[in-house]
Amino acid sequence: MKKIGVFTSGGDAPGMNACIRAIVRTAVYHGIEVYGIRRGYNGMIKGEISKLESYSVSNIIQKGGTILRSARSKDFMTKEGRKTAYEQLQKLGIEGLVAIGGDGTFTGANIFFEEYGLPTIGAPGTIDNDLYGTDYTIGYDTAVNTALDAIDKIRDTADSHDRVFFIEVMGRDSGYIAIPCAIGGGAEIVMIPETDTSIDYVVDTLRTGWSRSKTSFIVIVAEGDAEGSATDVASKVQEALPHMDARVTILGHVQRGGSPTAADRMLASQLGIACVEGLISGRQNEMAGIIDGKLTYTPFIDTITKDKPINPEFINMVNILSV
Ligand code: F6P
Repeated sequence: MKKIGVFTSGGDAPGMNACIRAIVRTAVYHGIEVYGIRRGYNGMIKGEISKLESYSVSNIIQKGGTILRSARSKDFMTKEGRKTAYEQLQKLGIEGLVAIGGDGTFTGANIFFEEYGLPTIGAPGTIDNDLYGTDYTIGYDTAVNTALDAIDKIRDTADSHDRVFFIEVMGRDSGYIAIPCAIGGGAEIVMIPETDTSIDYVVDTLRTGWSRSKTSFIVIVAEGDAEGSATDVASKVQEALPHMDARVTILGHVQRGGSPTAADRMLASQLGIACVEGLISGRQNEMAGIIDGKLTYTPFIDTITKDKPINPEFINMVNILSV
């Protein structure tokens, strides 16, 4: 393998730049040319591709976002779009790809591989941590710490005003961000898509808390929860508890930005090296990940179809710790 391409796709995540850096430097180390594809699959189709050198990735390890930009591409979902993308890569003689992203990215990579057989290895880059085949995804640790920092601040005002705060965190269909935010942020209740937490339960828990002289509460609502958004949950609870002084905070995209934590920089660097060395050793159509401290390669099809269940003990921890 003499030439490879690298791109970031889907939602950006802190640590993507550290991963790009590791990929470029590993390729250079092994005497392989590396091309940066801008704006994910959209840029692949449009030919937004240029050569990267070792110095191209200087001074980016600490930066959030992605220097390659990112996109969620509708055109790549079409056969025509993928054909154009393949032709663009062929023009430059690119023989392998490293895709940094989440399940949408790997769904695209899997179809592309089936159609054109171009070896691709993925690095899990998403704040959601919802990918089978790795204990942690790049960006997750930073996102959780960013959210926790905000929750700590909200607790100050919740406490000062005897209020109930409903705080919505990201995670798409998963509660991976919500759980450590609830445990680490000392929340009284956590609502995640993986388990049913009814409005009645929330109302009862608040009533019990007040009867025990608790004066302020934090309820963490994962954005994908079945009861709806934090705003929906707050208004349903307010109906049952009209005297409750409630506020809603949606943390939103603040969770996606910022300088990656040490854990994310380590993970991104380790997996960036693993992606390139995986391609060199003939691996294809797989995602690199770390499970129980060991480097693992998981077929894309498994990463996109298999669930990574949340340990139910974590929910119980929130209940125990909020007595
Ligand atoms: O996948 C990362 C993520 O931030 C999810 O947590 C969230 O549901 C989604 O992306 C938001 O997407 P967008 O940035 O396109 O609004």
